[in-house]
Amino acid sequence: MIKDIIDKKRLGLSLSYEELSSIFNGYMKGEVEDYQMSSLLMAICINGMGEDEIFDLTEIFIQSGDTLDFSRIPGIKVDKHSTGGIGDKTTLVIVPIVASLGVPVIKMSGRGLGYTGGTIDKLESISGFRTDLTNEEIIDSVSKVGAVITGQTANLVPLDKMIYALRDVTATVSSIALIAVSIMSKKLAAGADKILLDVKYGKGALVSTKEEAEELALLMQKIGKKYQHEVRYVLSNMDHPLGCYVGNSLEVQEAIETLKGNVAGRFYELCIELSSHMVSMSKGIDYEEAVSLVEEVIKNGRAYHKFEEIVCNQKGDLAHIQVSPHIHPVYSEREGIIKDIDALKIGKLSLSLGAGRCEKNDVIDYGVGIVLHKMVGESVHKGDLLMDLYFNHDNFEVDQSIFKIE
Ligand code: URA
Repeated sequence: MIKDIIDKKRLGLSLSYEELSSIFNGYMKGEVEDYQMSSLLMAICINGMGEDEIFDLTEIFIQSGDTLDFSRIPGIKVDKHSTGGIGDKTTLVIVPIVASLGVPVIKMSGRGLGYTGGTIDKLESISGFRTDLTNEEIIDSVSKVGAVITGQTANLVPLDKMIYALRDVTATVSSIALIAVSIMSKKLAAGADKILLDVKYGKGALVSTKEEAEELALLMQKIGKKYQHEVRYVLSNMDHPLGCYVGNSLEVQEAIETLKGNVAGRFYELCIELSSHMVSMSKGIDYEEAVSLVEEVIKNGRAYHKFEEIVCNQKGDLAHIQVSPHIHPVYSEREGIIKDIDALKIGKLSLSLGAGRCEKNDVIDYGVGIVLHKMVGESVHKGDLLMDLYFNHDNFEVDQSIFKIE
């Protein structure tokens, strides 16, 4: 009985494959109620899962939908997944970089929900950009331009879609076991040969400490090993926003400037690190050698040219990226050193400007967002410009405590 399975997890006992399958597949078929699944998810959050349970649940998730086979595309395909963050537009930069070096990339991305933006929303701020490619179009595009960035096909791990929506409203997103199953089932079903994980920690991330991020990364690596997939990971801090631009079309602009070699700092460095791992994994070369190749394609313009090709192939028009003409400048009310820029508060402000969704069906305003003019560690005087807010309606509130100045 379903109730006995939930009770077993409440007592901290392990569930067998059959028990996990009966409750999770039952939920998919509508035979298990939301309140029963919520109760099980909370018991998992509190008592955790053993490795065998995690492996079994990953398999159940994968089997819930299609598994994609891109073996017709020659070369070692490396997928990358970021656990999400404020201002994280790395996909827009690293996909063209690695594709310009001959690494085939099929990047299936999601939309934003809550404070963190989604790559698909960012790309849709480019007029005409198609994010709903079919499997055949994906294969054609990779053969033609070497890379695609598209939305997940509808039947890719449908169980995750249902469970994630329930986790989102039952305070059960933060379980390391459930995060690992959710991410790895999608990556394994999506047909890449190797996987690179960018696991974030800090105020704007799903897990707050570096230790938890490493635990999550190692767990995902073990799941990958079970399926004979090489998995590498990078742990990155998300206490502060990544880069200076937050908001869909603004982030596309920052990605373009980064690809053109006009941006330095933490965001640029993370893009170099992630791209170099992907190139190293695909070509089987040393990381250091990959770093030189990656830096070279930014310098010689090939990475940006590849971005243009990818956008054009997916019918996007880079001449038409909407950015709001209304700008509200925010000035410093004091003098000192910027000790902190709170990523979560920036995410909330961006949401209140209209750059994200509070509810699944909310409509995004692509042209709004935030441009930071000062970063952590910089000194400011009273009256210096801290950030510009791009807005289309004026029902937002500026919280000066976003910047901790001492
Ligand atoms: N991203 C996912 O895809 N799943 C999670 O559970 C958390 C982050």
